[in-house]
Amino acid sequence: MLKGVAVAIIAGICFLALRHGPAAPVTVVHGSTPYPLIVPPGFPSTKLFDHNPRTQEGFQLGRRLFYDGRLSKDGNLSCATCHQPFAAFSTYDHTFSHGFHDQFTTRNAPALFNLAWVTSFDWDGGINHLEVQPLSPLGAPNEMASSLPEALAQVQADTAYHRMFKAAFGTDSINSERLLKALAQFTGSLVSAGSKYDLYLQGKATFTSIEQSGYGIYQQKCASCHPEPLFTDGTYRNNGLSLNSELDIGRMRITGASEDSLKFKVPSLRNLLLTAPYMHDGRFVNLHQVLDHYTKGIVQGPTLDPLLKKGISLTPSQQEDLLIFLSDLTDYAFTRDPRFGDPRFGPPLN
Ligand code: HEC
Ligand code: HEC
Repeated sequence: MLKGVAVAIIAGICFLALRHGPAAPVTVVHGSTPYPLIVPPGFPSTKLFDHNPRTQEGFQLGRRLFYDGRLSKDGNLSCATCHQPFAAFSTYDHTFSHGFHDQFTTRNAPALFNLAWVTSFDWDGGINHLEVQPLSPLGAPNEMASSLPEALAQVQADTAYHRMFKAAFGTDSINSERLLKALAQFTGSLVSAGSKYDLYLQGKATFTSIEQSGYGIYQQKCASCHPEPLFTDGTYRNNGLSLNSELDIGRMRITGASEDSLKFKVPSLRNLLLTAPYMHDGRFVNLHQVLDHYTKGIVQGPTLDPLLKKGISLTPSQQEDLLIFLSDLTDYAFTRDPRFGDPRFGPPLN
């Protein structure tokens, strides 16, 4: 009992500290197995788990929750319905994703990987921490159409979860803070850094002259907004799409500032082969269309990024080389990683 109270207090302090500043002691519950995140070579450090120390048990709990349809109103829509592992956790081949009662989402579901290095979420950056991110799909009437209390009630009704919460957090108390922390332990663990490009940087693979040329073209023409190693700078920009501000005003929805009108988060270029269609509204079905946009489709406007005022010039052969390089950013091992799959199928949990 006392131990439970202590854990709850420490967890509460961590949660408050997360939102209000000062560093709190990092505590791993006695009996749980520390599972520190291995930062890939060349990646910056991450603070995501400073106040939510990753453990095997917390990660496995988060994984189970991520694949559990009972978190939604009709019991069918899990996080993984829209964030599918084989599509690098985006929605395969869908402009918008199907939510509750077959309503559609209003934006293209982003792929989920390397979130431990992301500091604001969604296409407009409306969410500022991975731990609170699930509140948005849980409550959205066109997504999971539920609420945190309803989702908690579902989870509390399953005795298997009591065991899992106890293993992860020391007591079997199932509360919103723990549910959100466990989900973040899973989503924050989706590290993708095993592409041919990564192996090349580590000296474990070689590039042909075409790949080398594509890499150079990327560095010259794309890296200012999509820089290595994450292939995004995490900023919000208008990349010249033809847009209707009444449909989606982008970043301005959050800041209210007219200079943010029609700006959207720069997405990563990793795993593009797995995440079509492209852009916040999924308007481009393949990468040829994306390059056509940058070379000859840029629409001028007051918030267009200055870097794109004249479009990007690429000869047909440069485009081919660039596309080969972009395909080298695909991490097939990531989508097949058994740690990230649905725990009800495949090998037993480790
Ligand atoms: C019905 C489809 C759907 C479901 C279910 C869903 N998502 Fe999403 N998710 C989306 C869409 C669409 C966005 C983009 C929202 C936006 O930009 O406004 C998104 C955005 C995100 C992001 C932000 C990624 C980034 O790079 O900014 C994360 C993280 C995320 N979802 C995790 C989850 C988790 C965890 C769950 C389960 C609790 C979940 N999602 C359930 C469709 C869904
Ligand atoms: C001025 C900044 C900027 C430059 C330069 C730039 N991009 Fe982008 N890129 C963006 C922004 C912003 C988006 C998201 C726009 C949206 O969805 O509304 C984006 C989206 C994309 C997407 C869609 C990815 C997805 O997951 O939906 C691809 C692919 C892409 N860019 C490729 C490139 C390539 C290739 C180059 C170089 C030829 C390039 N970009 C240059 C800012 C830029």
